[in-house]
Amino acid sequence: MINIKIRNVLTDDLDSVTQIENTCFPSKEAAPREVFKERISTFPKGFFVAELNNKIIGFINSGVTNKEHIEDKFFETMNLHNPNGDNIAIFGLDVHPKYQRKGYAKELMKHLINSAKIDGRKKVLLTCKEHLIKYYEQFGFVNEGVSESKHGGAKWYDMYLNLK
Ligand SMILES: CC(C)(COP(=O)(O)OP(=O)(O)OC[C@H]1O[C@@H](n2cnc3c(N)ncnc32)[C@H](O)[C@@H]1OP(=O)(O)O)[C@@H](O)C(=O)NCCC(=O)NCCS
Repeated sequence: MINIKIRNVLTDDLDSVTQIENTCFPSKEAAPREVFKERISTFPKGFFVAELNNKIIGFINSGVTNKEHIEDKFFETMNLHNPNGDNIAIFGLDVHPKYQRKGYAKELMKHLINSAKIDGRKKVLLTCKEHLIKYYEQFGFVNEGVSESKHGGAKWYDMYLNLK
């Protein structure tokens, strides 16, 4: 049984999400505290945290764009965020290693997809590493192949989910 509570991020969650990001990603790929600060203040509507016994154990965060793929610059700045855009761009999905493989990321993803549908968005975009392509396909995401992204020096794949 899924016993987590999913809610929108709050300003006070900044330290918790930064810590989880540093646990989940290598330092070259992890979003820094300042970037989270900007994402939280600019688009808290697209930033959800999962709580277990009042403690944050994971989160998903996003921005909005009219582009079809996520530009690397969007990982650094919300200047590219267009609140009236068609597509939700997922910046990251993190579950603390201690709480992985319990379906919590799935709940976070379903929550974000539902919220994007309610807001009338057309697509959800993400980039992921090869080993997670299958994972995202279960939600209906389509793999478009190797991305132009050079984020953190890794190889990424572009994926999208049609909502309409
Ligand atoms: C990717 C990530 C978010 C997944 O988080 P998670 O909460 O473990 O995800 P889920 O529990 O929904 O699913 C993970 C796996 O556990 C399995 N699982 C889900 N519930 C389970 C349960 N109750 N018992 C056993 N396995 C279970 C899922 O089937 C899935 O298996 P699969 O990979 O073979 O498809 C997490 O591993 C993470 O934070 N990784 C580091 C950061 C990262 O790479 N993020 C993605 C960036 S694109």
